[in-house]
Formats: sequence, C-alpha cells, structure tokens
Amino acid sequence: MEFDWKRRNLLWQCSVVGLGFTGLDFTIVAKDAPDKSEEKEPEVTATEDLMREHGVIRRALLLYYELVPKLRKDVAGVDASALKQTAQLFRTFGEDYHERMLEEQHIFPLIRKQGPELQGYSDVLTAQHNRGREITDYILAVSNGPRISVAHAEPLARTLESFVLMYENHAAREDTIVFPAWKKNFSNKQLDEISDQFEDIEHKMFGRDGFEEAEKKISRIEGDLGFSDLGQFTPPRPPEI
Ligand SMILES: [Fe+2]
Ligand SMILES: [Fe+2]
Repeated sequence: MEFDWKRRNLLWQCSVVGLGFTGLDFTIVAKDAPDKSEEKEPEVTATEDLMREHGVIRRALLLYYELVPKLRKDVAGVDASALKQTAQLFRTFGEDYHERMLEEQHIFPLIRKQGPELQGYSDVLTAQHNRGREITDYILAVSNGPRISVAHAEPLARTLESFVLMYENHAAREDTIVFPAWKKNFSNKQLDEISDQFEDIEHKMFGRDGFEEAEKKISRIEGDLGFSDLGQFTPPRPPEI
C-alpha cells in the first residue's frame, strides 16, 4: 500500500515535469492518488510508543557515550551546553514522562502481579530510575557553567560510562521482557484505548506531540555535536584472516 502510494506520487511528479507521460496518464494518476490531508495517521500501538521513546533515550545515551573520551582527553573542548541540553531532555522526556507517567504508573504495577520474576524486574527497574534521576541531577549541576571543570572531568566520564551501561541493559530488558509481558494482559481493543490514554498524557505534559518534539531536540543536539551523519558510525571492514 505504502509502495503503491509512493509509486503513484512519483508518476504524478514525472507527469508534471513532462517526462513523457500523456495528459491521460496524468488524469488517471492524479484521480487515483489519495488525498494525504484526508488520510488517518496509522495508529501507534502502546508498546511501539514505549519503544520509540526508548529510541530517543538511546540517542541521548549515545551522546553521553561519545562525550566520555572527550572528557578524558580534552575537557576544555567539551560542549557543556550540549551536555546540559541532553540531560534536560533526558529529564523531561525520559524521566518525568516515559519513566514516571508511563512505566511507573501503568506498566510496573501490572507486571508486579505476574509472578516473582517480573516483580523482581519491577523493583530493579524502579531503583534504576531513581539512581538515574540522581545521575541526571549531577550531570545538570556539573554542566551548568560555560565549561566542565577539570576536577569534574574524570568523575563525570565514569558516571556517564556506568549510566549508559545501566540504561542500555535497562531499556533492552524492558523492550524484550517487560513490555511483552505487560501487553499480554490486554486485548487489541484495550491496547488501542491505552495507546489513546498515553497520547492524552503526552499532550497534557507537553502541550503537543512530545515524541516529535523530543526527536527534533535530540536531532538538533546531535547536529551541534557533529553526529548528524549516521554514516560516520559505519566501521571499517574487519581485518582479513
Ligand atoms: Fe524504565
Ligand atoms: Fe523505559
């Protein structure tokens, strides 16, 4: 369906610039092409919502990860403002919204009733949210000036390293164990309703589409730090054996 729409759109564009399509082609294609403004946006399921939020959170973690060697080699060259903005985004979108409003209010209370293993996950994940908040407080405090001080360089590098490792494990377990277990409690119709509830919470908190805003923000910070080009992360070929 998606492919078909793109193909039609391409045909329409070709017709407009006169690349050999007849007037008849144009009429048929233009009539067939759906009016985008009338299309209903496809639903984002509740778990898809949670996982794409992890995508934004992971992009913030990758920025932390990239800053670690810079803090050790050239702390004066570290962009304190970009670090602060990343931590602010982590706080509002990651901690205050994703963790507190969705996971702690909706997901964890339910999985706790699904047996001791999931109860254990809920306890550890909650403790990690709390530790993460302490770490974000610390990152915000040390990045509050124009520069990161030399005295903070190594402790901050170590804190970021351990935070990234914790949160990568945390989000991966949520994606593969916790969210699928939570989802089993509901029918598709109920999941649809929960997805709408999540959207309402998002709108109340951010006054607009929180995910899109957060994605734009992380993209901008990536740009400021020179990480916009995804291709730069493709590694060289491995050595020949
Ligand atoms: Fe979490
Ligand atoms: Fe999460």
